[in-house]
Amino acid sequence: MRAFAAALGIPEDHFVRSIANPISRGSAVYYPPQAPELGADQFGVAPHTDYGCLTLVYQANVGGLEVHGRNREWILAHRIEDSFVVNVGDLLARWTNDRFRSTPHRVVNRSGEERLSLAVFVDPDDDTRIEPVCRTGRGAALSAGDLRRIHPRPLRQVFRLPAEMSRTPLLKLEWRFVSSFEMGRMTVADWRTLDTQRAVYRSELQAEQVLRLLRVQKDDPSFGYPISNYRHCLQSATLAHRDGQDEETVVVALLHDIGFDACPARHGAFAAALLGGHVAERHVWLLEHHQVFQDHHVGEHYDPLLDRNARERWHGHPHFEWTAAFVARYDQAAMDPDYDTLPLEHFEPMVRRLFSSEPRSR
Ligand SMILES: [Fe+2]
Ligand SMILES: [Fe+2]
Repeated sequence: MRAFAAALGIPEDHFVRSIANPISRGSAVYYPPQAPELGADQFGVAPHTDYGCLTLVYQANVGGLEVHGRNREWILAHRIEDSFVVNVGDLLARWTNDRFRSTPHRVVNRSGEERLSLAVFVDPDDDTRIEPVCRTGRGAALSAGDLRRIHPRPLRQVFRLPAEMSRTPLLKLEWRFVSSFEMGRMTVADWRTLDTQRAVYRSELQAEQVLRLLRVQKDDPSFGYPISNYRHCLQSATLAHRDGQDEETVVVALLHDIGFDACPARHGAFAAALLGGHVAERHVWLLEHHQVFQDHHVGEHYDPLLDRNARERWHGHPHFEWTAAFVARYDQAAMDPDYDTLPLEHFEPMVRRLFSSEPRSR
């Protein structure tokens, strides 16, 4: 405590003169070995800050104490022979107006061995007035005892990282995070980990994300067409399905306008990029060009410059006839509010099967 006072440039005995009848206490803590498959978010002691002034920790045989640094990484406080970890608690942080910070910490015993630690919590006398010694004028003075009594947990304050400060949980408990927050500081092992975990992640989540992109449009209103884009997509897929088209064509119909409102002018290219790795070339071409093929079906229009035959520039292209037929049958007329359209659930397994197929290289 003298060292802390000296560091602040105040009389060395400032803190210790309040430690005549301290409410300090000590404890010996036993940690069983933690099974590796439990992952990094299973704790011997969950993240928290200490209530008091200082905590002196002796890690008797193995390490495991981790400190939450200001760069938001958990840093392992390695066990060093014949030494103590000195941790600042909430009371000293308050006493110094956060010049010394109360550090969140946790214990994760990954050693595979039993772990023993000895901790001494150093607090001043119960009636000590905790009046900030620096950056004064902020924070009211209270006695150490009052602070302890109004505190919901006298020994340890359960520390919850704000959502935006904590890491996103991993998909699998046994997975691990990369070792840095910067790509430039990541290791070869990190990149291998990412590649391995990403392959599983995508195989499990890509189809779900695509379905979610569609599902969020479910209750969107219409801007004039008899049905919403969501219902148009389902109707298009239903028409293709009832026409006996193969599963890939049905999914192409379901997703051909998935970006209709998010990416209006290029929604065909949007769908082509989304499906490109998983469908035949004729479907990629169809998706990219279907907007121009639709113009062929426009009846009366106010714009004299509208070119209904713009698609003719691709006449003779191997995918021209298929695109023309698809648009005529499953797209330009798929807006009947009375049609018995199948629900999305009907098509979900098809989407999952398509995205679980090996991506095609082009
Ligand atoms: Fe479209
Ligand atoms: Fe469409």
